Amino acid sequence: MFVHAPGRMGVSQSIASTLMADSSLNVALFGSRFMGKAHSNAWLQAGHFFDLPTRPVLHVIAARDAAHLQSFAERWGWANWTIDWRTAIADPAVDLVDIGTPNHLHREQALAAMEAGLAVACEKPLAGTLDDAREMAHTARRTGVPTFVWFNYRRAPALALARQIVAEGRLGRIYHVRAAYLQGWGGPDTPLSWRFRQSQAGSGALGDLMAHIIDMARFVTGDEIAEVVGAIEERFIKQRPQPDDPTRKGRSSVDDAVLFLARFRGGAVASFESTRLATGIKNSNRLEVHGERGAVRFNFERMNELDFFDGTEPPRLQGWQTIQAMHEEHPYAAHWWPDGHWLGYEHTFANQAADIVVAIGGGNPFMPIPDFADALTTQRVMEAAVLSARHRAAVKLSEIPV
Ligand SMILES: NC(=O)c1ccc[n+]([C@@H]2O[C@H](COP(=O)([O-])OP(=O)(O)OC[C@H]3O[C@@H](n4cnc5c(N)ncnc54)[C@H](O)[C@@H]3O)[C@@H](O)[C@H]2O)c1
Repeated sequence: MFVHAPGRMGVSQSIASTLMADSSLNVALFGSRFMGKAHSNAWLQAGHFFDLPTRPVLHVIAARDAAHLQSFAERWGWANWTIDWRTAIADPAVDLVDIGTPNHLHREQALAAMEAGLAVACEKPLAGTLDDAREMAHTARRTGVPTFVWFNYRRAPALALARQIVAEGRLGRIYHVRAAYLQGWGGPDTPLSWRFRQSQAGSGALGDLMAHIIDMARFVTGDEIAEVVGAIEERFIKQRPQPDDPTRKGRSSVDDAVLFLARFRGGAVASFESTRLATGIKNSNRLEVHGERGAVRFNFERMNELDFFDGTEPPRLQGWQTIQAMHEEHPYAAHWWPDGHWLGYEHTFANQAADIVVAIGGGNPFMPIPDFADALTTQRVMEAAVLSARHRAAVKLSEIPV
């Protein structure tokens, strides 16, 4: 059991110089289930596969269920564990707080960590509500601590390659962005977990899935959404079985699906669709971008491949090519296996963990990592979609205060 340590004193010493002194980055992770596993693995693998300025150390993990937490900590090699996340923040050895808890907890946990002068890596969406997200971004700016948000798909090599191709101008002016994140697990028999409670999740498919594709579209195009032109939000399933007693039902209070049309500042028009009721689809996270000279398309179901159409080739040679983004010249790939040896979901997190360590050490991450200010932009687009659906009206991003 983790023993409470005396409180951390102030923020006067820069995190980077502290790290230089002992060359380890002590991580406190909150959450020990889905993301608890993904992040534990990421911190371990980052240190194994990347040459990092400091070594990430699994120092302390906090979650609610003591019995599960103890065995989880032993299995993954966490040095300490606690059911009280505040004691982890008060531990003077901790350098970075990593938040993998339900969305309504992000604000309180991140604010406490930032006020203690700690770097924070928070799961997406940044928060359950826009107000929470705004307060988190403002506190990050005031305290000056490094912040990061786990929009992990940016670090799938094929998607990072799409960003490079767009940045090189190979698509020219962008006309269309088409994004869809489709899952099918949310039918009427799916229990009423925190993911279906507005008080804990903030939203349904919107925060769970749409947040990812908004971030991916911004990342790949390098452009910003200027206006949500029209949105639909639907809650198909109003009652769901209680997790502890499936014979009883409770109210599901979040959207099952959200769709919207949008315009980018640069003039591209876009469609976004997110749902947990795409029956028959497991985890299809798609982004297509069409420009005047070419196009790219990505689907996480074949995450190591990027389809590229080069419209500058002579017409007799034109056609889609499928690039397997595992060559050492592709983003992140040189750190893993020889060409053609596939990567998986977990590598996106390991790549991000490595980039976070590099950024904290004062270096340049291989791909930009969204900080709280950046993730607030994504959250404002989500809010614009909610308002657009509610009022059946177009909503400009400039109408959503920063
Ligand atoms: N980036 C991705 O691909 C991705 C995927 C899934 C979830 N997420 C995000 O990760 C976060 C967590 O989701 P999850 O799927 O891991 O949830 P989960 O339900 O699997 O796990 C939640 C964890 O939070 C812990 N927890 C709950 N209340 C706590 C408290 N008061 N103090 C300490 N710990 C507490 C629980 O004990 C549990 O270990 C959410 O914000 C979610 O949106 C991101």
